[in-house]
Amino acid sequence: MDRVRIGVIGVGNIARNYHLPPVHALPNAELVAVADLDESFRSRAQKQFGFRDAYTDYRRILDRDDIHAIMLLTRVNTRTEIIPAALEAGKHVFTQKPFALTNEDAEFLAQAANRTGNRLVCSFMHRYFPHTQGARQILKEGKIGRLEMVRHRNCIGSHYDNAVRLWGGVLDIGTHGIDVIRYLTEQDVVKVQAMMDPYLTNANLPIDPAINRPNETVAIMNFEMSGGTLVTFEMHWTQRGGAGGYYAEHYGDEGSMFIKHPIAPATLIYTQGRKGDWIQPDLEQHPKGHLHHKTFIDDILNNTCESATPEDAVATVKIINAAYEAAQTGKTITVG
Ligand SMILES: NC(=O)c1ccc[n+]([C@@H]2O[C@H](COP(=O)([O-])OP(=O)(O)OC[C@H]3O[C@@H](n4cnc5c(N)ncnc54)[C@H](O)[C@@H]3O)[C@@H](O)[C@H]2O)c1
Repeated sequence: MDRVRIGVIGVGNIARNYHLPPVHALPNAELVAVADLDESFRSRAQKQFGFRDAYTDYRRILDRDDIHAIMLLTRVNTRTEIIPAALEAGKHVFTQKPFALTNEDAEFLAQAANRTGNRLVCSFMHRYFPHTQGARQILKEGKIGRLEMVRHRNCIGSHYDNAVRLWGGVLDIGTHGIDVIRYLTEQDVVKVQAMMDPYLTNANLPIDPAINRPNETVAIMNFEMSGGTLVTFEMHWTQRGGAGGYYAEHYGDEGSMFIKHPIAPATLIYTQGRKGDWIQPDLEQHPKGHLHHKTFIDDILNNTCESATPEDAVATVKIINAAYEAAQTGKTITVG
């Protein structure tokens, strides 16, 4: 096989704005068929990205032997039905985040991937930002020594009104920060402490029946990592003025490294030793989403495993649920 033929399920906001342009531009990927419940979304995607076939029922895509992979770009409530069906139909699966709402659902999805031997990749886009890639290289080369402490911040400009649609800020934007913390430190989160706005002493936010808890807009968490690094992670869902969308500080025993969001003037700087001469490495730049989707396609074609694994996706869900439990109980929770 020299070309991956793709069916896309769900062509809403994130599909059109982030995923489909870079996949459309890849020479070894072909957007063959689209499924969406909304006819106007289907026909717009056909015009914009050249899909030959469009369906209301996603199962028409799974029935086709000429399609190798699906991209599931719907919301989280569709995953436990569509992902196992696609894997069992012999398709590789690329799915949007959050991976699942419960630990049980996350394990169920990962087991389906392991059982079928097909790829299941959760879309952790922050891994592929040039500054994340550059930071990973600096840490891998040991340039700042043994990592002692990390401070990471993820913010987005949604508002509480959006919470009902997306089931809370930690599941929405926090998922990315948690994945990047694991990706950069190459350590697992073993213990979690958390405070979140719905559980403040005088907070009285309504219960969202879909998840049986209120939705959070601010969360502050502490993680103990498996390699002994301590992490503090701030998640703020009511960002204003574009400030601090993705910001991280890494402190090692031989140096420090700062990552800022692309809107900041310096995206990645580090220093070695105590003197404080800051080095700004050249970062490899790609069109938005290129590296992310190229990695998925290359993994299928070359039988490599550079993309996020199902275990990475399960880990984010377990850490998030440990954080909810920590915020509700006030206790330190060991990640199950
Ligand atoms: N930065 C990011 O990584 C990022 C940003 C935005 C959204 N997201 C995530 O992407 C997912 C989708 O978000 P969105 O904003 O694009 O949502 P959306 O509602 O705009 O799009 C979802 C699409 O899926 C379609 N759909 C739903 N059920 C379907 C089914 N059974 N069969 C076929 N089509 C179906 C809907 O008709 C809709 O067009 C969410 O999980 C969200 O959290 C991630």
